[in-house]
Amino acid sequence: MVDYLQLMADLFENFREIVAPDSPEADLLSRLDPSRLPRHIAIIMDGNGRWAEQRGLPRVEGHRAGSESVKAAIEYSARLGIKQLTLYAFSAENWKRPVDEVNTLWTLLRTYLRRELSTLMKHEICFRAIGRLSELQENVRSELVRAEKKTAKNTRMNLVIALNYSGRLELVDACNSILRSGVRTPVTEADLADHLYTAGLPDPDLMIRTSGEQRLSNFLLWQVAYSEIYFCSLLWPDFRGKSLLEAVLDFQKRDRRYGGIRTTYSTSTP
Ligand code: FPP
Repeated sequence: MVDYLQLMADLFENFREIVAPDSPEADLLSRLDPSRLPRHIAIIMDGNGRWAEQRGLPRVEGHRAGSESVKAAIEYSARLGIKQLTLYAFSAENWKRPVDEVNTLWTLLRTYLRRELSTLMKHEICFRAIGRLSELQENVRSELVRAEKKTAKNTRMNLVIALNYSGRLELVDACNSILRSGVRTPVTEADLADHLYTAGLPDPDLMIRTSGEQRLSNFLLWQVAYSEIYFCSLLWPDFRGKSLLEAVLDFQKRDRRYGGIRTTYSTSTP
């Protein structure tokens, strides 16, 4: 009981700088159970284009506004004590978009990494990118490497950004990597997991998708086997810290059974 009260006090202390005592965010925080947080949250950040179109703006303005929601999701996750946040920022299929939009997305990402590196350091966040990164432009890759190197020793939270990412291609790449390793015995689940881009990282406990669409869109197909999925009707630029707290509260109402009949709560796979 004392531990729980201490965890709650720590949680409010972590948010003191950014959450006013009588705000809706404070109310949501008071309803969270700090001992039952998801360890890993993954987010499909959808709806930037529609957000812009609804305002008569070019689609790229939606992505610009969406990068403010990225900031909020990262800061709230770190302050909550989430150990890993994975964001789907550019799929292997997104190259089909108009070239101006694609270029803006890469510029936003590079700007974000340069501008927010100090925030990542302040919150002790370790940054990593996953996807077919070798196919990215040199000026993007160098920025990714710079951020990865600078934040490598941070341990409070892992921030993983999926770029030029496809869940199916990740499985193909894992299979080819196993073949290259010269394995001669039957491949196990653990072997496959060890050859994914996410090797060594925990599977998501909670997967969030914004914009009202209810599909996984080729994101972390292997890793979401037992994730709780939260579909939210807000468009990504409208999904800020308060919405993240609501998603975590919803997660805490779920009964995770992993195919069994257990009714007690757990955030880790058996
Ligand atoms: C989906 O919305 C969103 C994307 C394809 C890109 C996500 C990028 C950002 C949030 C900004 C930059 C990222 C970082 C990490 C700084 P959509 O364009 O498919 O929206 P729509 O379905 O309404 O068209």
